[in-house]
Amino acid sequence: MEYAIRFKDVSKSYPLYHSITGGIKRFIFNLPGSIRALKNARFEALKDISFDVSRGECLGIIGKNGAGKSTILGLIARVLKPEKGEIYVKGRVSPLLELGAGFHHELTGRENIILKGVLMGLTKKDVMKKMDEIVGFSELKEFIDQPIRVYSSGMLARLGFSVIAHLDPDILLIDEILAVGDLEFQKKCIAKMEEFKKNGITIVFVSHSMAYVERICERAMWIEDHRNKMIGTAQIVVASYRGVG
Ligand SMILES: Nc1ncnc2c1ncn2[C@@H]1O[C@H](COP(=O)(O)OP(=O)(O)OP(=O)(O)O)[C@@H](O)[C@H]1O
Ligand SMILES: [Mg+2]
Repeated sequence: MEYAIRFKDVSKSYPLYHSITGGIKRFIFNLPGSIRALKNARFEALKDISFDVSRGECLGIIGKNGAGKSTILGLIARVLKPEKGEIYVKGRVSPLLELGAGFHHELTGRENIILKGVLMGLTKKDVMKKMDEIVGFSELKEFIDQPIRVYSSGMLARLGFSVIAHLDPDILLIDEILAVGDLEFQKKCIAKMEEFKKNGITIVFVSHSMAYVERICERAMWIEDHRNKMIGTAQIVVASYRGVG
């Protein structure tokens, strides 16, 4: 079996910005120690996560807000670095698509499409060849030439999904983008993801929509308290998660 993604005992922490306890006076009189304590305070967002994704598989990641799902996608996309563990990713990964993030607000939709494509390693010429298809899929019409700060969140999601879906990724990372799209666009995205699966593209799909996870993912991973609580057949993992939720 060929793997597209492998995580082995991966941990990721963020600096913890906690308030100064014990009062500012004590803090200042203990300065070196106090600063060291502040610097060393870390928050563990992921602990010892191990999993594999085969080439062409669709893995769903589910779990509560703040569990660590988006952090996993950030690590796959290499936007984040782990403190511990090994990460293996084979192929061209789509840019991270998180709600409202990753776009430049003063640029137009069209300019953002070019930027995303170039960041993904394509030439501007390649992106321009796909431009009509991307704009058509997004159905943003005249808004495509407006700065994206005037977009609604659903319009941003349309732009984001349209870009990543048309730039030939080997691995597609999708972070809860469907939630803000209207029904018609959600259906279009799901159809596109099913087409990707047929073409052997690997998908990692973070979602709070259990119905969609069951529909398109073969397997699902449930992250709870920053740990891998369960991984297995999508139906079984979703059922367990529902039972608790
Ligand atoms: N840049 C950051 N700096 C500090 N802490 C962060 C940062 N990004 C995430 N965290 C923390 O890491 C934990 C995991 O966050 P993450 O965004 O991965 O959660 P999530 O499972 O995607 O949640 P949601 O369902 O709300 O999107 C959270 O406790 C969050 O507060
Ligand atoms: Mg998230």
